[in-house]
Amino acid sequence: LFNNIEQLPPDALFGIRQRLAQDSRAVKVDLGIGAYRDDNGKPWVLPSVRSAEQLIQQDPNYNHEYLGINGLPELAAGAARIIFGENSNALNEGRVVSVQSLSGTGALHLAAKFLSTFLAGRPLYISEPTWANHKSIFQSQGIKTVPYPYWQASTKSLDLDGFLESIKDAPSGSVVLLHACAHNPTGLDPAEKQWPAILEAIASKNHIALFDSAYQGFASGSLDRDAFAIRLGVEKLAKVSPVFVCQSFAKNVGMYGERVGCFHVVIPQQDDSTVDISKVNKAIASQLSKITRSEVSNPPAYGAKIVSKILNTPELTEQWHKDMITMSSRITKMRHELREKLVQLNTPGNWDHIVDQCGMFSYTGLTPEMVKRLEAQHAVYMDASGRASIPGLNQGNVEHVAKAIDEVVRH
Ligand code: LMR
Repeated sequence: LFNNIEQLPPDALFGIRQRLAQDSRAVKVDLGIGAYRDDNGKPWVLPSVRSAEQLIQQDPNYNHEYLGINGLPELAAGAARIIFGENSNALNEGRVVSVQSLSGTGALHLAAKFLSTFLAGRPLYISEPTWANHKSIFQSQGIKTVPYPYWQASTKSLDLDGFLESIKDAPSGSVVLLHACAHNPTGLDPAEKQWPAILEAIASKNHIALFDSAYQGFASGSLDRDAFAIRLGVEKLAKVSPVFVCQSFAKNVGMYGERVGCFHVVIPQQDDSTVDISKVNKAIASQLSKITRSEVSNPPAYGAKIVSKILNTPELTEQWHKDMITMSSRITKMRHELREKLVQLNTPGNWDHIVDQCGMFSYTGLTPEMVKRLEAQHAVYMDASGRASIPGLNQGNVEHVAKAIDEVVRH
């Protein structure tokens, strides 16, 4: 019965971790999966998370009961506030449905299920390149994915004209997946002045914008600045079409394995005053609840309580902002050190893009062959696309990495 089942290759990113664990060389460097590391190369539990954990465990009502099917309401409300802003019209008008999800991937899955159920037949436009999992998540729900031009390899910059053309050529009512900030894998975001044209092109075709926000706070160090595109999108599309937001707390709260996230649906403003928005809101929430109940019953509680405590306790929120600055500034520092070392080594090529890109990743421009050689000869691991997770660099290994890159580029 099972003899013809094909064994698939390991997942591109998680496969890196497996290979690295089996590598017995003394010096090895993990620039694979996007996860923050401190300057000793160790995972970092954020001080705000430690404090929140203590508060939760001191609570006399501490327990491990089930959450409701749509998760912890205080988490969803706090998450909506940081992404849409305290003064969001959509929030004030009751046009946002927010539910907890199994991190960003779970939010994307809810979006895919919701789209395939209620807005079937619409293609999903995704940037070329994009996070590898985007395709699988939407295709598994029968949604056709179409790439739009994004990264121009020759200039290592945004192909804005190609991007806009593709949005304008897409059939009306398509869904356009946008990275809210810190684009994965390229680390290249549209400039603030480029976003209006992108969103106007989306509005002009009644498309639906679907934002993936996995790095809020990582691009600029500021939650508000990193929510710029989403907030502008919600405003510009308010009278046109719904906006979906998939929000992960894996990276910015360092809750990778706890799977904390939220899915938000922004309902457009209605011209027809007889439409009861609160009724629409409750109907959507009930449908999302049906999906979650049938798949995971209800989302995990522990991480949700921690993130909710941080979002809803002013002193912890303040500490969290500092923690994000600690992470984003160390990443920036390592970008500069790597670039400087490559310049000192006279490594052929221009390496300015390493410092110009933002968020966790640098799209180095190294070819798959160079990446292979980095791993085989120097025990430096990164994604075959040439994407390097910069937090894997530290004072102890940046020189090794620079010399390794220098060697493979010259080889
Ligand atoms: C990454 O892109 O490295 C992360 O988002 C981890 C993952 O799940 O792929």
